[in-house]
Amino acid sequence: MADVSIDTRQSPEAIAEFAIASAVPRRMQYRRFSAFQRWIHFFIMASFTVLVFTGMPLRYSDEGWAQWEMRQLGGAPTAGIIHRFAAIVMVTCVLCMVGFFTGILIRRRGRFWGPGTMVPNRSDWDDLVAMWRWFLGGPRPVLQFDRYSFYEKGEFWAASAGVSIMCVTGAMLWYPQLTTQFLPGIFLNFALVNHSGGALLAMGFVFVFWHVFHAHLRPEVFPMDKAMFESGLPLDHYAHERPLEYERRVREGTLDEVLVPEPSARRRRIESVLWWIITIVSLAVWAAFVIFIFWWLGHVVGLW
Ligand code: HEM
Repeated sequence: MADVSIDTRQSPEAIAEFAIASAVPRRMQYRRFSAFQRWIHFFIMASFTVLVFTGMPLRYSDEGWAQWEMRQLGGAPTAGIIHRFAAIVMVTCVLCMVGFFTGILIRRRGRFWGPGTMVPNRSDWDDLVAMWRWFLGGPRPVLQFDRYSFYEKGEFWAASAGVSIMCVTGAMLWYPQLTTQFLPGIFLNFALVNHSGGALLAMGFVFVFWHVFHAHLRPEVFPMDKAMFESGLPLDHYAHERPLEYERRVREGTLDEVLVPEPSARRRRIESVLWWIITIVSLAVWAAFVIFIFWWLGHVVGLW
């Protein structure tokens, strides 16, 4: 292989050119997420959407829109069954992820933390400070990321905490007799308040203020960041988006671990149909929940 060290102070364009010109075979692509990670993301995305659409009309059961939605879902008992079915899917995904991380911890201890993992480090802190300096009028930073950026780590840990709380409180509401065999009855009230308020917070975080915005509406990725839906991404994209990971892998000789052959034309066509469906559904859900947030704000300040 030719000299593959990257000067990460170069412009993103120069780094991208370097990646293309390097000795890596041209028809290989970069695989950001494994099939396991992409399927887990898909099932969490689908179950979360169903949980929000079946839970929200319960929370706002006095409102006309909630009663209309409940009728479309086939009534409260049916909505309850769908909610519980989606909950089983979500809990299964959480257990699979716990198993995945336990496997990493037992088999390859070193990879659980350090560069390329979700564990925050000093440079995440420096990136966060640089970003806030920029927000407050300072110079625009040129941030260069390893496998996960500081905001992706923040999102992962916030979502993990939120999903865990929703699973535990949801299970308490699902099995009230069992819960009160171990805990005083007031814990069911805590569970309901947390589940109900947590749902609103999670819905705002995922659909309106952060995740959909970040994965679809940022100018760099509009209409959709394909990293979670495509088996392979172009190498120049990789070197441009994650120069520190690229350089580290070349240095360590582990670049091969993330290289996959370019998918066939047929697979590409199927993937592009799928990601257009996901894009349109996500943007429709985003628009619906932006309207919901305005309705909710009006409700809170007493406009209606
Ligand atoms: C993160 C995803 C979730 C969201 C957004 C969500 C949302 C909601 C909402 C808004 C309610 C109505 C609360 C109220 O009446 O104020 C609710 C009820 C409920 N949720 Fe969830 N939930 C989620 C996950 C779960 C999970 C994982 C479980 C089970 C393990 C669960 C089990 C329940 C149960 C049993 C109820 C009571 C429903 C009924 O009585 O029919 N939820 N959920």
